[in-house]
Amino acid sequence: MEKQVHRVAVLPGDGIGPEVMTEAVRVLELVSALYEVNFEFDQKPVGGAAIDELGCPLPDVTLRSCENSDAILFGSVGGPKWENLPPDEQPERGALLPLRKHFGLFANLRPSVCFPSLVHASPIRGDLVEGGFDVLCVRELTGGIYFGEPKEIREVEKGRIAIDTMVYHQSEIERIAHVAFNAAMGRGKKLTSIDKANVLRNGILWRETVEAVAADYPEVELDHLYVDNAAMQLIRRPREFDVVLAPNLFGDILSDEMAMIAGSLGMLASSSLGRDKGDGLYFGMYEPSGGSAPDIAGQGVANPCAQILSAALMLRYSLGCIDAANAIDNSVRRAIDDGIRTADIFTGEQGTHQVGTTQMGDAILERIKSGA
Ligand code: IPM
Ligand code: MG
Repeated sequence: MEKQVHRVAVLPGDGIGPEVMTEAVRVLELVSALYEVNFEFDQKPVGGAAIDELGCPLPDVTLRSCENSDAILFGSVGGPKWENLPPDEQPERGALLPLRKHFGLFANLRPSVCFPSLVHASPIRGDLVEGGFDVLCVRELTGGIYFGEPKEIREVEKGRIAIDTMVYHQSEIERIAHVAFNAAMGRGKKLTSIDKANVLRNGILWRETVEAVAADYPEVELDHLYVDNAAMQLIRRPREFDVVLAPNLFGDILSDEMAMIAGSLGMLASSSLGRDKGDGLYFGMYEPSGGSAPDIAGQGVANPCAQILSAALMLRYSLGCIDAANAIDNSVRRAIDDGIRTADIFTGEQGTHQVGTTQMGDAILERIKSGA
């Protein structure tokens, strides 16, 4: 049988992006040799790299390549070199936000997983995370205060004022709530919805709408937390959460908190899903949660796991290659369980040893081969 060919736009970006992307592409090439899947990679510049090469953070060639692909595998963008550009020309705002908006990537899934064997890497007290935890943060990504209009700084009589507008349409809340409930159905069947209903009108509509959507998912246990309380509860009892649903800004903040509690940003993947392609698959963009880490870029020490796990999420949610996705997830976990550590997760524990980016990639490749 002819293997299906999936087109993947590969955007390594800045900082550690290119190094960790190299490992993710090696992993994908290996799974295409072992499983019923084939890729056509189209690598294009984005972020600071694109500013340097083509004069803007999201050039037309890059956007067109993404449009012609089944999914986008994204590295990371930004760095000190471009920090002094006007805000809208900077890599993050000029590439990431327009990509999200252009492709309607409204559902941001950020798994925050603390592997049992990495519990010591978490900065919170051992007894609170013993045995590890697995929380999925579902963040609304194309609405709310990030994109609401008016959005401006202007001169009034008493000086300058800044305005950002938080707007949610009920339909936007409904569609992200369905994503969160569906995710909960495939996991622990618990959903915690986050809002600020004690102050914001947005919070009231958010809560009412999520309650209404809950009627379609009677098996899911739903509760609500105000965002400030959620920030406390997540750090005090992370093991008790399953899926957390949040509006754009709150999800931005809480997903960073969860990433920190999990121990290392270098382990955390994320997916931003848009158009429903049917059969449970979506067009999506997949990226590590950790950012471009310019301080360690080019040294060969960055942790490639988040980029590799992002590739696995792409296989799962956009390409429907579940066997290959499982093989990657299992192999990353086995490499960690076997004591292999990049610098960010190395704490000198007995039975562990420190490796660089490429060796971590090698360790994962070996395990994919031996598990196939
Ligand atoms: C993220 C980042 C972005 C966001 C920034 C870089 C615009 O923090 O993906 O969480 O706020 O969404
Ligand atoms: Mg963020």
